[in-house]
Order: sequence, then C-alpha cells, then structure tokens
Amino acid sequence: MDILELLAKRRSIRRYQTKPVEKEKIIRVLEAARLGPSAANMQPCYFVVVTEKGVRESLKASYNADWFVQAPVIIVGCANPKEAWRRRDGEEYWKVDLAIAMQNLILAAAELGLGTCWIANFDEKAAKRALNVPKEIRVVAMTPLGYPDEEKGLVTDRKPLDKLIHYERW
Ligand SMILES: Cc1cc2nc3c(=O)[nH]c(=O)nc-3n(C[C@H](O)[C@H](O)[C@H](O)COP(=O)(O)O)c2cc1C
Repeated sequence: MDILELLAKRRSIRRYQTKPVEKEKIIRVLEAARLGPSAANMQPCYFVVVTEKGVRESLKASYNADWFVQAPVIIVGCANPKEAWRRRDGEEYWKVDLAIAMQNLILAAAELGLGTCWIANFDEKAAKRALNVPKEIRVVAMTPLGYPDEEKGLVTDRKPLDKLIHYERW
C-alpha cells in the first residue's frame, strides 16, 4: 500500500471484535517495531505482548476502559533508559526511540487491517505491577491490537500544511 494511503487509513480504534489475532500477524507487527531506527542504534525498546484474559483485565488498574482490555491483544511498549542514547546536554531520547518503534508497529497493523490505539494516559506504576516489569524499565505506551468493530474514515482532521511548515527560517 502507498505510504500516504496507509497513514490516512490508520485511525485510533476503540471497539474491537473478540476474534483472536493470528500469531503470525502479531509477530509481523513486532518485526516492524524491531526494524525501527533508534538514536545511535542503541535499541533500548522492549515489548510485552498480553493475550491472556486475566492479564489483560489486570491492566485495567492502569487504564480503566473496557474497550482497552476487551481487545484480544495488548502490546505494552517499554524502554530501558540506561540502554538509550542521551545528548551531551543530558536530553534523553528513549521515549523518542519507543515512539518510533510503536508507530512502526501501529502502521504494520493498519496494513493488515488490524486496529490499534496509542495509549499514553495510563498509570505507569499500576501497569508495571500488573506485568512484573523490572524497576529500571519504563512503560512508555500501550496499544490494544485486534480486528476493528467500528468503521472509521480516513484521517482528515489535521492542520493544513501551511500552518505547520516554515521554509528556511521560522
Ligand atoms: C502519544 C499519544 C498518546 C495517546 N494517548 C491516548 C490515550 O491515552 N487514550 C486514547 O483513547 N487515545 C490516545 N491517543 C489517541 C489520540 O487521541 C488520537 O491519535 C488522535 O485523536 C487522532 O485520532 P486518530 O488516531 O484516529 O487519527 C494517543 C495518541 C498519541 C499519539
């Protein structure tokens, strides 16, 4: 699929069918995440793939929405700040690395007709508790993954280009 078509097709899905996601499709979206670039190729990203109902339900303590835990798969994007590049002024880039990997995963899912939804508004401590995530690892983003149970059109509600772009200087 043409890249701009795919980008316009990807929408945040908040209703999922109960139909399981095929194992090879889960592996394919994880592979898309793995192929993403990271600062200095430090590769600080990790993923927890949750399919068991009980474990999905336990994530409700971190993000209290039925549609989120009803999806057949939840993918939790994590990073290890100690393994990540930082700029000389101390600016850390692990969230950026994770965001790139997550977006790759989400786009690969869209290409397969699978729905996702970036989730950032969660309680990190509760998510770490639910999934036994080690102390030094940060949970950056989560997404449900599954066959959509709602129809959404293409992305339209974005600022026009001329409101975003400055040429040569701001
Ligand atoms: C970094 C980030 C965090 C987000 N966090 C949440 C969230 O916690 N809960 C939620 O329902 N949607 C969340 N979203 C989804 C956005 O609301 C959604 O992407 C935006 O409204 C545009 O809609 P679209 O994804 O359908 O194009 C998040 C999106 C991004 C990129």
